[in-house]
Amino acid sequence: MSEKQIGFKSGEEFRISNGYTETLRKLAMTGMSLEKLIEKGLPENLEDNTPPAVFNIIHIFRQQKFLQEIEKFKGRKLNVAVTGVSTEEGTVFLNEALKLKGYNPHNNFIIDVDKSILDQISKANIPNFHCIHADARNTGLENQSQDIVFKDHLGNCCPPGINKDTFPEISRILKPDGIAIINITTSDLLPLSKNRKIISQQQLSQFIGSEAIETLKSSIYDLHSLKQNFPNIDINNLKSSILEIAPESFVAFSDDPQAHCEWFQSLNSHLNSWFNNEFSIIDMKSRHGTDNHQPPLLCQRHNVILRKNV
Ligand SMILES: C[S@@+](CC[C@H](N)C(=O)[O-])C[C@H]1O[C@@H](n2cnc3c(N)ncnc32)[C@H](O)[C@@H]1O
Repeated sequence: MSEKQIGFKSGEEFRISNGYTETLRKLAMTGMSLEKLIEKGLPENLEDNTPPAVFNIIHIFRQQKFLQEIEKFKGRKLNVAVTGVSTEEGTVFLNEALKLKGYNPHNNFIIDVDKSILDQISKANIPNFHCIHADARNTGLENQSQDIVFKDHLGNCCPPGINKDTFPEISRILKPDGIAIINITTSDLLPLSKNRKIISQQQLSQFIGSEAIETLKSSIYDLHSLKQNFPNIDINNLKSSILEIAPESFVAFSDDPQAHCEWFQSLNSHLNSWFNNEFSIIDMKSRHGTDNHQPPLLCQRHNVILRKNV
C-alpha cells in the first residue's frame, strides 16, 4: 500500500460508521439557524460527538480572536482550501458562516485522498467548489495562493509522520497574511478513558513486533489489514486497547466493520510541528468529551487558529 492511499478505503463506510451523515439531522433538531447556533453555541448534547467540521465551525465563529483576525479579509475575494473532508457539509458551513459575517469566500478548494468522497461532492455541483484528488502534503495549489486553510480532524485520520508533513505544505500555499484553522483531538486524556487499557511501546513491541509497529506508523489503518500483513498477530486483544506506537503518539481502533484506527498525538507534539514550521498561535479553544468509538475514548479537542510568521 503506498502512502498516497492513506485515508479510508470507502468514504461511504467512513461517513456512516462515524455518524457524519447524521450531523445535519442533529443540527436540524435544535431548531436553530446557523446564525442562532453561532450566537448561542451548540447544545450540550452535541458536544460529546466526534466532532465533524460543522460543529467545530460553530465553535470557531464564537472565538473573538478569530473574528478579530479575519477582519483583514473584509472586501477581498477569498481563496479557502479545505484539506480532509468526509462530506461537503464542512466546506458548505465554513462558506455560509463566512458569508454571514460579511466575507466573500470566492474559491473553495476541497482536497482529499479519497476519490469516493470527492465524487460525491462533485455530484452536488456546488458553485465555486473545486475538488482536488491529492494528498494534503502535496496539494498542487500555487505558492501563497490561499487566504484560509481549514484542516479539521485530518491529523487523526493519518499517521503522525504524514500529519507533520502537511504543515510545510500549508505554509507554502498560504498567503503571507493567511491563516490556518486546525482542529485536533489530542491523546492527553486517553489514559483516563473507561474500559480501555494502554499498551506501552515496549509491551507492544513484545506483542506485535517492531515491524508491525512501523506499519501502524506509516501505512496500516485498520485491523484487518494488520491481520492480512501479520497473520500471527491476535487482533482481538488490540480492539479495546490504546497502542503507544511512538513517544506521545497512539493508535486506537474502532468497532466498525473495518475496525479502522485513529491516530492521536499529544498537544505538545502538535505544538512542536506548528512552531517548527514557523506558525504562531493566534487563538486556541479547548474542550473535552468522549467520542463515538467503543469503548468510548476520552478526548481533548482543540480549535486552533495559526498565523504564518513572515
Ligand atoms: C475525519 S475525516 C475529516 C472530516 C471532516 N472533519 C468533516 O467533518 O468533513 C478525515 C479525512 O481526511 C482524509 N485524509 C487522510 N489522510 C489524508 C491526506 N494525507 N491528505 C488528504 N486527505 C487525507 C480522509 O480520506 C478523510 O476523508
